[in-house]
Amino acid sequence: MVAKKPETVAKALGLRPDFVWGVSTSAYQVEGAVKEDGRGPSIWDIRCRLQGGVWNGATGDVACDHYHRWPEDVALMREIGVGAYRFSLAWPRLQPRGRGAVNQPGLDFYDRLIDGLLEAGIEPWVCLYHWDLPQALDDLGGWTNRDCAGWFADYAVVAAKRYGDRVKHWATFNEFSVFTMFGYAIDWAAPGVTDRSAHMKAIHHVNLAHGLGVDVVRDHVAGASIGAIHNRQIVRPEGGLEENVAAAELLSAHWNLVFVDPQHLGYYPAIVINDMEPHVRAGDMARICRPTDWIGLNHYGPIYAKADPATTWGYGWGAPPESANHPEVGWPIFPEVFRDELLELTRRYKMPIFVTENGCGGGKGSDEPDGAGEVKDTHRIAYFREYIKAMRDAAAAGADIRGYFVWSLLDNFEWGSGYGPRFGLLHVDFGTQKRTLKNSGKWYRDLIAGRHKGE
Ligand code: BGC
Repeated sequence: MVAKKPETVAKALGLRPDFVWGVSTSAYQVEGAVKEDGRGPSIWDIRCRLQGGVWNGATGDVACDHYHRWPEDVALMREIGVGAYRFSLAWPRLQPRGRGAVNQPGLDFYDRLIDGLLEAGIEPWVCLYHWDLPQALDDLGGWTNRDCAGWFADYAVVAAKRYGDRVKHWATFNEFSVFTMFGYAIDWAAPGVTDRSAHMKAIHHVNLAHGLGVDVVRDHVAGASIGAIHNRQIVRPEGGLEENVAAAELLSAHWNLVFVDPQHLGYYPAIVINDMEPHVRAGDMARICRPTDWIGLNHYGPIYAKADPATTWGYGWGAPPESANHPEVGWPIFPEVFRDELLELTRRYKMPIFVTENGCGGGKGSDEPDGAGEVKDTHRIAYFREYIKAMRDAAAAGADIRGYFVWSLLDNFEWGSGYGPRFGLLHVDFGTQKRTLKNSGKWYRDLIAGRHKGE
């Protein structure tokens, strides 16, 4: 059966006629080639070399070798039929030391990728920052240094000037709260600092960088559509216990509010004001709250908090109720929480929304090719079925949802979990780099083509 027109498919699903179906990746998770063509080291190259920094001593040195295999990956995206590919630029590829000298071969790489995408009829969506800060900037304090916001703006100028003629969709950052919390309060990500003041500084400086980045892209890219990508997950007290309620409240503010609120409402939530005040200068809130065109939402499931006095803020990651955990995915599947997040985002910020990441890991048996080479990841199909239905419910209830990007195109380097969890629509054999379209990839392809309505 031939593919239906995108607007016909969208209409049948109750979505906007211009609804975008896409896939996402990020530079350090897929590119590899970390020492090639003049790329400088990032904080993740360093973390991967620390004892215990990443599960099983994994690194992003090769990852999916997307740096060399992007033509094959673009062809596979075309086969799936996506309209957009969201990827990130590696700052250390464009500016190996984070500021100053620009690296021509690094710029050339993204030129090739962008041109290849456009030739394939796939819209490039660029994210400027997906966690791979140049190590040279971390040596100067990284995001705890206020100057980092200016360095980011200078890097954004380089990218916007170079690619703005062809790239119209720009995101400043991916998941602000994850890399600031795990990098500066809880030692789960690079650079692995655990300090309250460092965490607050990082939050504020990243917010400033976002505001500057929005202005840079607006100034240099004609017809730019600009947003930022936020993760939102409702935070529940572990076990529903009273003793974990305060932990859940503070964790939720750090996780769900300290970026979106100042960027869209112009203020920090009351619960963080005292800790934040020493770092905020006159005029900062106006620098952060700049007009954007959309909010990107990354969502996976709810999270749980517990009181833990031994941690930086007195909160720890709580365990979900045993019964809620999906046996294959390893975390709770609550599509209604996704619907509620979309509606809450709409109520609070009144912005168009793109779902910039949604998907599920696996890594157990059903994520591997069977004897006939088929990857029967039925758990992922079930997940998409339920989450896309929840998104459509939110759209029917009034959320202005304009697109959905699966995380991820490829099984890839899953940060601290190394190559354990597999999120791809494409299975990657990390020994041979062979790609295999999983059954979930076929399901997504058929959804986009209108061969089924998400059943
Ligand atoms: C991140 C991705 C990550 C995914 C799955 C998101 O937090 O943006 O980089 O791989 O979740 O864990």
